[in-house]
Amino acid sequence: MKRHHWWRDAVIYQVYVRSFLDSTGDGVGDLAGVRAGLPYLKKLGVDGVWLSPFYPSPQHDHGYDVANYRDVDPLFGDLAEFDLLMADARRLGLRILLDIVPNHCSSEHPWFRAALAAGPGSEERARFHFAEGRGPDGAEPPNNWHAMFGGPAWTRTDDGQWYLHMFTPEQPDWNWRHPEIPAEFEEVLRFWLDRGVDGFRIDVAAGLFKHPELPDSDDPEADARTRDSVNPLAWNQPEVHDVWRRWRAVCEEYTARDGRERLLVGEVSVPTAREHAAYVRPDELHQAFFFDLLGAPWDADAFRKVISEAMRDIAGTGSTLTWVLNNHDQVRTVTRYGEPAPGGSGLGAARARAAALLMLALPGAAYIYQGEELGLPEVVDLPDDVLTDPVFHRTGSRARVRDGCRVPLPWSGQASPFGFTTGVEGVRTWLPQPDYFAEYATERALADTRSFWHLYRDGLQLRASLPQLGDGDGTLRWLDTEPGVLAFTRGDGLVCAVNFGTAPTTAPVPGTPLLASGPCPAGELPGSTAAWWLADL
Ligand code: GLC
Repeated sequence: MKRHHWWRDAVIYQVYVRSFLDSTGDGVGDLAGVRAGLPYLKKLGVDGVWLSPFYPSPQHDHGYDVANYRDVDPLFGDLAEFDLLMADARRLGLRILLDIVPNHCSSEHPWFRAALAAGPGSEERARFHFAEGRGPDGAEPPNNWHAMFGGPAWTRTDDGQWYLHMFTPEQPDWNWRHPEIPAEFEEVLRFWLDRGVDGFRIDVAAGLFKHPELPDSDDPEADARTRDSVNPLAWNQPEVHDVWRRWRAVCEEYTARDGRERLLVGEVSVPTAREHAAYVRPDELHQAFFFDLLGAPWDADAFRKVISEAMRDIAGTGSTLTWVLNNHDQVRTVTRYGEPAPGGSGLGAARARAAALLMLALPGAAYIYQGEELGLPEVVDLPDDVLTDPVFHRTGSRARVRDGCRVPLPWSGQASPFGFTTGVEGVRTWLPQPDYFAEYATERALADTRSFWHLYRDGLQLRASLPQLGDGDGTLRWLDTEPGVLAFTRGDGLVCAVNFGTAPTTAPVPGTPLLASGPCPAGELPGSTAAWWLADL
């Protein structure tokens, strides 16, 4: 019997709206496009959809710079279109999660504009982190912190004061110690909950509060260097947990009204699994992405360590685990696991398929990023002049640019725009699609039973029907294996094994697998392959 909290083992599909499907012919995806794609997602077998930010925004960080938290940017549609999308999702039984961005807003947000206009010492400035500079004439920033995307975390205004932004200068950080900020965000939550949404993905959920004195850091460039929230003065402050308690209470209030459980999933990047567990205490977030799996190299010991820590430190507290291999900020698995360019050895693709079966066999919930179900590789050869990611423009680091995983999806046909847009032949997609995207089009994937798409669909179907998978009994038991192979059981008789090496090995159970990520003769587990069996153990 599956446990009844749907979110404990939900599989959610991340839609990066501007790259999913374009209904207006301008080369940018939109909400009507998402609505048109819902039947496709239903067929794939996911439980719900997380929509990347579509709010009014100058798009300096593709919508993670929000100018109005209660509307839709005309680029993506309007509130009426959003309501139609909600209604269709409800009819299809798909849940809808919105992406909420509480750490910072856009420099175009009316409250930030008012703060600039009102000047030093004003009530308007108290909603943000404004401060005098140091050194002669205050020409040095108030502290030595660097922003995540490079450069100082402070920008000077015309009147000489500085304001804090942990990302780009167009993303000023809110001051969560000002009582109007928590109150405002609670209203924003209610605005969307009243429109029927099933929950929120919370951007930078270990952020919000900074050390109250904003002291200098011993390693000011650590965030920019690691592109991770590691500055202990800027992230993971204890007060943030009160916010998640409050937001959970708001969700519970809505559940008490209509019986529908809402879901809060945090983008939580903290140093240890134990600290992570604090975010998913029973009265805080329902889920928090556990990024260590995404960060692990293709190596059996590395994967085992990450999974064991999650089981011990997070699942051990009774909370659910939330797995993810891809998202809009990271190099896609096919490329990360070894395939620098399409037409390579196929190793990266084989490993990405195996990783997918592994992830879907683990206890807890899982998130799939659009295009992952097609086996899309990272587009590594975008020319510099089309790159839009502020990471590239602020750090000059091509290696870490995020555009390569955000290229618009291919749906059909042999040439760009591959059915992505209703625009006439020759319309430009906001990032150019490479010719080889033809091989990955959904139309082709649906027709080919050996495709990534069928592997994901079959895995999701089995996961929904087998009581051992998903939450199951919450346990995972490792089996003894040869080095380079991981095998574990879930509940009564479900075995998942992954061969991280390239040479075949003996399967941990005889017989034909229920599902395998590649050709898998009975009794054998080929290299770079994962499989599931039902066995009497
Ligand atoms: C999160 C988002 C990322 C964005 C950043 C700032 O990490 O996933 O895309 O740039 O927050 O909002």
